[in-house]
Formats: sequence, structure tokens, C-alpha cells
Amino acid sequence: MLRTNTCGELRITDINKTVTLCGWLQRSRDMGGVTFIDLRDRYGLTQLVFNMETHAELTEKARKLGREFVLQVTGLVKERSSKNNQLPTGDIEIIVETLTVLNESQTPPFTIEENTDGGDDLRMKYRYLDLRRTSVRANLQLRHKVAQQTRAFLDKQEFIEVETPVLIKSTPEGARDFVVPSRMNQGQFYALPQSPQTFKQLLMVSGFDRYYQIVKCFRDEDLRADRQPEFTQIDCEMSFVEQEDVLNMFEGLIKHLFLHVKGIEIESVPRITYTEAMKYYGSDKPDTRFEMKFVSLSDIYEPQTSNLVSGNGFKIFDEAELVVGICAKGCANYTRKQLDELTDFVKRPQIGATGLVYARVNPDGSVKSSVDKFYDEETLSAWAKAFGAEPNDLILIMAGQKEKTRKALSELRLEIANRLDLRDKNKFSCLWVLDFPLLEYNEEEQRYFAMHHPFTAPKPEDILLLNEGKLGEVRANAYDLVINGVEVGGGSVRIHNKQLQAKMFEILGFSSELAMAQFGFLMNAFEFGAPPHAGIAFGFDRLCSVFGGVDSIRDFIAFPKNNSGRDVMIDAPGEIDQKQLSELHIALNIQS
Ligand code: AMO
Repeated sequence: MLRTNTCGELRITDINKTVTLCGWLQRSRDMGGVTFIDLRDRYGLTQLVFNMETHAELTEKARKLGREFVLQVTGLVKERSSKNNQLPTGDIEIIVETLTVLNESQTPPFTIEENTDGGDDLRMKYRYLDLRRTSVRANLQLRHKVAQQTRAFLDKQEFIEVETPVLIKSTPEGARDFVVPSRMNQGQFYALPQSPQTFKQLLMVSGFDRYYQIVKCFRDEDLRADRQPEFTQIDCEMSFVEQEDVLNMFEGLIKHLFLHVKGIEIESVPRITYTEAMKYYGSDKPDTRFEMKFVSLSDIYEPQTSNLVSGNGFKIFDEAELVVGICAKGCANYTRKQLDELTDFVKRPQIGATGLVYARVNPDGSVKSSVDKFYDEETLSAWAKAFGAEPNDLILIMAGQKEKTRKALSELRLEIANRLDLRDKNKFSCLWVLDFPLLEYNEEEQRYFAMHHPFTAPKPEDILLLNEGKLGEVRANAYDLVINGVEVGGGSVRIHNKQLQAKMFEILGFSSELAMAQFGFLMNAFEFGAPPHAGIAFGFDRLCSVFGGVDSIRDFIAFPKNNSGRDVMIDAPGEIDQKQLSELHIALNIQS
């Protein structure tokens, strides 16, 4: 080895040892007679000292070194006269005796320190340099730990890790596929898997019983902070289980990870149904670190009769399908400007609400609202009561079409929580959301889509609804795990019966020929003794980012893509030459 110790290792107990360290020059300070260098490696920083009086030639050499030079030094560990208690090695320094430059470096395009001067794009282009920064490296170390602990837990539970293929077949359901042309099969394409869903089900038919895989998945969809075109899942499947067994098993995994990665004990993971989640939070992935549940004023009396909100001449409420609000604790003192900001927030095109009604509860308990002229004091007090609002609270109300209004209010709820600092990244709130609808109607395509995927089983008690054609009402044995408002995982009990699977494809608009052509391999397998099975997949990158308290999953991926799906470091995707295209039998027809 070129070194005896790492740059994060030496302590006061090592004084007077002769050591050899290797690392990168982070920073150098020339103080006249003495030159200090901070030497960095993966483990930390150690201060090197070059003394002009005792080692003139060596010190001259040290003064000429630039940032990010790769050095090997040998020297004596000494106690520092001025200690740095911010640094684990801050009690000592190395009095350097010999110095070897292992490699030189150009001046890096940005400073490789915590407070770097590099912008996002530059750091992505030189990602290998950004990865030298402590926080970025720490994110990947966290990722490593989550993977290790996942394997440890699942291995103990008898799960077998099996690799499934990456070159598979394109299917019309789900997101858009990334496709790969086949040279040997002219005009044909592989697709990269959006998930190993069908393969893990086939492994259950094979009798593997408990499978997992930490696996790359590929989806050609619009990118956001929590979406990458290639991402990783902790993909799991179990046989001879019911939903309850899956929930318990993976609640166990989550508890194990929190304990062993974060040192946090999670007592229990509460459960709510999809319907409740939509009703109380307007979202199927509510952030439950704070309450601020929705209160529906429409629910309190029958709508369209004289009640708390309608029949008073205020057209917007009178005509609304739903009048619903939240109570922002202690916000009654919001200024006109702050309230206008909130109104502008909900009117942004991404949210699309038409407006916001507010009611302040004054310190004396009286209520003052933006729609005072329509509602008497008594009604406004009844509003406050419905919200459980106390003096100094602010009630924010929205009205309109049910789903749209809930969605918009959900965004407002998060915005208020941000303003009130209720989304503490060191606090964790896990939640199971259960009983998702099996199907979701798509207005544009005028047909139903599987809300989770076409292999998800309806709730046995809802199969009747399926047969009666009440498709929108059928619930699935499908579940999501949500942590701090992030959908960290999702899964379902699967169909394991050929007829039901065929029926499902029929509902989704597949002809029986198309269903057989696309998924015949699975339906045939169901005829050879498919066991009841169920599973789940966790978004591994998302799980890591939640653990790290960071919104963007990019920070937890070594070499991520940008928002246009590009790797700006290697400059991919790129063109390929004519010879490659010909071999693949592809003729480009690009119209600019
Ligand atoms: P689903 O599509 O819900 O289920 O995906 C499971 C989890 O993967 C994560 N995820 C993503 N993470 C980053 N970038 C993306 N583009 C992305 N898309 C999804 C989410 C999500 O909860 N085969 C099923 C699972 C099953 O039924 O067992 C599936 O893939 O955290």
C-alpha cells in the first residue's frame, strides 16, 4: 500500500508516529515561514505542515503545488498548537519529511469544498470531481448502507436475490419504454424493463417463494426531482401470502432500515385507505409529519340546501361540488400581501384554482372573512368550529369540482407547512395507503387504465362490481408506502388465474389476440400451477433521498441524468455512425 493511514484516521493518541498518507490537495496556505496543506481522501482531511526553517527545499516544493494534486507524504504526527474542533483530525498535524507528487491536476473548474462555487450544470459535467465533495460522497455512502441493510434483512427472511433480464419486450401498458434495436432480428426491438414485474411473478410460478432484487428500471417519462429515466428498485415478491403478510414483512424492512441506517426506532406504520387519503389530504401520498387535515364544509349539511356554505348568495360556494379547507394554526396575522401571495400560489397554472377564501379567527374569537357580506357571524363561527379553529388561526377555503379542488388544496397544505416549517427533514412519518382503485378512467383515451398495473388483483369482495361493469368503483388489493409525502414504494396482490387475467386485459381494451401476443407467456404460466402471490417494489433512490432529507434523488445517484434525460458528462444520448445504423437496419428520417 502507498499509505499507512487514511486522512481521517489520526488522533492525539497517534502523536510521534511516523505515517504515510495519500490524498488530494484541498487547500494550501502559505504563512511565510510555514506552509499548511489540507490533504483530503474519502475518510477526511489532515493538516500537513512544511517548515521553511527545517525543510527549505521541501517547503519550496510544497508551495508550488496546486489544488487537487495527488500527493504522498511521510512525516511525524504532532499535536497542533491551535486545535480545530470542527475536524475529527483537528488535534494533530503532520510535520512532513518527504513529499511525492503522485499526479498533477489542472485547476478544477469549481472548488471542491462544501460551499462550492460550481453551478449545477458545471458540477454535473465534472461529476467525478463533484463526487469528491464530502456531502455528495456521504449520500452515496448512505445508499451503500441502505443496500447492505436491505440485503441483510431480506436474506435473513429467506429471500433469494435473482437477476432478471434487461433486454426484454416492449408492452403497451405503463410508461413509455426505452427500446433497443436488434441487429440479429431485423426490424425488431428489445425494450428495457420498466420493472421486473412479470419476471418476478414467473419466479413465483417457478417456486422461488421469496424473491428480491436491487435492480435498475427504465422509464421514458417526463423527469422531475424524484424521477430519473433509469432508477433502482428494491423489487420483492412472495408466494402463499395475503396483503397483510406483505405489509407486515415490509414494515419490518422499513423499521430495520430506519434503525440500522438512521438509528431511529419506528413504532408502527399507520394505515389509511386511498379514499381517506384523498378526503383528508387531497393526495394519495400525504405528508403526515403534520396534521392540517382537510375539513369539508359541504359535508356538514346537505349540499344545495341552506347550510354552512350554500344558499347564501355566494355563487362560487353555491355552485361548487365541494367546499373544503384547512386551518393554518396561528396564521390569522397574515398580512394582505401574504394572503395575496397564497391566492397567487393557488392560481398558478400548475395548480389552476380560481381563488381562495379566508377567514381569520380574531384573538377575541370573532371571525372575519373575505366573504363576510354573504355569511352572518353565526355561520362564520360555525365554520371556525368545524375546523376546530382557535383564536389567531387562519382558515383557508377552496371550492369547485371535487378532485381538482382537493388536489389544489393539497398543494396549498404543503405550501403552508413549508411556511410554518412543519416539514422537518429530521422527522419521519411513514404511512401505508391501502385499497387503491383498480382502474382509472382516462378521458383522453376514453378507456380505463390499471391504476397500479394490469397484474393487480381486485379485492375479492369487489369482483362482483367488476362483473357488473361498475369499473370505477372496484378497489384493488394494492398498497403504497409513503414517507414524508414521498411515494417510496408500491405493490399489490397479483392475479394468479388465467381467466381473471384475461378479463383484466379485456377491460383494458386488449383484444384476446393482442393480450396473448403481449402477455401470453404469463397467462400460459398461470396454467402450470401458479401460487397465490403478492409483492412490492421500493424506489431505492427515493428511499435514500428521504433518509438523506433531500428532495432530489439525483444527489443519491452516482452518475445521474439531467432534466432533459442527458448525461452531460459523457454526452449521452449521442448519434451513432452510419455503419452502426445500417447494421441495425435503421434509416433515420429526422425532420427539423
Ligand atoms: P411502481 O411503478 O409503483 O411499481 O414503482 C415502484 C416504486 O419505484 C419508484 N419509482 C421511481 N423512482 C425514480 N424514478 C422513477 N422514474 C420512478 N418510477 C417509480 C417509486 C415507486 O413507488 N412492479 C411494480 C411494483 C410491484 O407491484 O411490486 C412497480 O414498478 O418509489
